Amino acid sequence: MVSAFGGPEPAGATASAVCSLSLEPMMMLVCLDHGSRSLAALQKAGRFGISVLGVGQQKAAEVFATKLPQADKWSTVAWKEHLGVPIVEGSLARIVCGLGDVLPGGDHVIVTGTVIEVEAEPGEPLVYHGGLFRALDAEPGIGIERTDG
Ligand SMILES: Cc1cc2nc3c(=O)[nH]c(=O)nc-3n(C[C@H](O)[C@H](O)[C@H](O)COP(=O)(O)O)c2cc1C
Repeated sequence: MVSAFGGPEPAGATASAVCSLSLEPMMMLVCLDHGSRSLAALQKAGRFGISVLGVGQQKAAEVFATKLPQADKWSTVAWKEHLGVPIVEGSLARIVCGLGDVLPGGDHVIVTGTVIEVEAEPGEPLVYHGGLFRALDAEPGIGIERTDG
């Protein structure tokens, strides 16, 4: 979940296009649709948060994927302001980033962010696969032999 304060109200969107970009300096990458209100908010704020949701936070993932008024989205979760960004409480990892570049990427933009702070704790991540939110398989996965030596 990507979030920012574009004004007094928090904004947030469920996003799967989120990954690490650089170790030194530590940077993250997020891809957001041109029409995302959270994109407008983070551009205004100059910083953004990433809340990595865990199993049990499916409701939040679903709500933040909607175009409901932002206040309605945020009323469904426990959250706090931390270092100037709204963060979902109970997430597995909470990352605060300063806004870097906003680069073209088709109907999305590629947003880079310099990491200001990371907090993380152990837990089961919420994954999205086959059109559904789910937990990782509790059974060990099938071994896929690597061919790159
Ligand atoms: C599993 C999932 C992953 C998504 N990933 C992205 C994403 O990476 N980038 C994006 O812009 N929208 C993504 N979306 C769609 C946004 O969550 C959706 O457009 C949301 O309404 C945007 O809210 P906003 O306009 O308040 O920012 C995803 C939706 C789902 C269900």
